[in-house]
Amino acid sequence: MPRIAIIGGSGVYRVMDERKSTLVDTPFGTVEVFLGNLSGEEVAFIPRHGENHEIPPFKVNYRGNLYALMELGVERVIATNAVGSLREDYPPGTILIPDDFMDFTKRRDYTYYDGGEIKVRGRVIRGVVHVSMTPHPYCPEIRAAIKSASEKLGIELVDKGVYCCMEGNRFETPAEIRALRILGGDVVGMTGCPEATLARELEMCYASINVVTNYAAGVGGNVKLTQDEVAEIFSKRIEDVIALIEETIPLIPKERACPCSRALEGAVITKK
Ligand code: HPA
Repeated sequence: MPRIAIIGGSGVYRVMDERKSTLVDTPFGTVEVFLGNLSGEEVAFIPRHGENHEIPPFKVNYRGNLYALMELGVERVIATNAVGSLREDYPPGTILIPDDFMDFTKRRDYTYYDGGEIKVRGRVIRGVVHVSMTPHPYCPEIRAAIKSASEKLGIELVDKGVYCCMEGNRFETPAEIRALRILGGDVVGMTGCPEATLARELEMCYASINVVTNYAAGVGGNVKLTQDEVAEIFSKRIEDVIALIEETIPLIPKERACPCSRALEGAVITKK
């Protein structure tokens, strides 16, 4: 049973050479999950955009993906996201581990608890649930493990920052990016939300490795944004990202002492 999963974003379509495809039925459709070996343990892998990058950010089956991972026994998720930088001092190529996020998406399924009934970890939950995203919107244990791994490998990274999630598919306008900077954002992407929240709703730990592929619109004199630029920078950092994940896995504690594992305690408000 895999305890750890990787959700690979743009540029991360494979992390394990030897892997087998498993189809998992969920209330949100059938999800293909790959199982393989990484750092001496069985790890699950989902390429978020499909193996050929055919799924746009707003069509990713976020609920199905995380539910399928839970069904397989996964407790911890390491995600990767390509991001634009809102700061001149975080140039393309920067790796950042966000410690907070802001969600500006508009047309996604944000919750498992939509008033109906859902089975989570053997328990049927009905009605309305409000999970807490404070004080740690991302799992502090996974973030600490990624940081230690980067120090061991000598890979420089920024160990905190605010991730802003936009709906896409287009890149942002300069005015939108100015607004995000004023609001306190550090990087911008299209897929980190609602993934982080949905993981929390299933009491799964979740942290992300953000790879800056470009300056966001208007930052650092950026005039035109292209997907080619995003892909090119990502391909330059992919080896480091995979090495970082491999080094991180054994550093993630087997027993969970973080609040993510108890996210549903006190969160269910519907009484019967
Ligand atoms: N904006 C939104 N998403 C992104 C960007 C960006 O500039 N770069 C990579 N993903």
